[in-house]
Amino acid sequence: MSITLASKLEERALPKKAMAIQPALVEFGHAIIDHQHQNIFSLGAEIEALSRRNRRSKQLIRHLYEYWCIIGDHFTTEEVLLLELPKTRYEQQISSHIVMHNDILMLINQAISHLEDGLDLVDIRQIILYAFNGFRYNTALYDAQLAFALRDEKII
Ligand SMILES: [Fe+2]
Ligand SMILES: [Fe+2]
Repeated sequence: MSITLASKLEERALPKKAMAIQPALVEFGHAIIDHQHQNIFSLGAEIEALSRRNRRSKQLIRHLYEYWCIIGDHFTTEEVLLLELPKTRYEQQISSHIVMHNDILMLINQAISHLEDGLDLVDIRQIILYAFNGFRYNTALYDAQLAFALRDEKII
């Protein structure tokens, strides 16, 4: 069975330019977060390569599940810091950042479920790449804003 997700993904408001952003250049100066970003980007690269070669492999599901766990921990780390910002000044930034974290987690969760259900890997790969693109965008835009805000507020 095949699913067509391209049109659904098109509806979402993620700028296509996000693919071109170099997230490795975004450094918080926060040891834990910078280390988490490095791990996530390298696991993401492995998953991207696996999804190109393998069809519905258990290894891909395991890697995606690991990815889902580590981004979950990472997002929690960032959200603890986000909630330390003065809410009145940063309300919009805090809520948009958290919404995007939840969207990325939901997409990875969806990709895992579709793989477990044996759906077409070509379509699932679109979800995975879309989620990774979202992660890059989140890092380059929202995380950079968070880093500036934390410095401005003298939290880190
Ligand atoms: Fe991040
Ligand atoms: Fe983030």
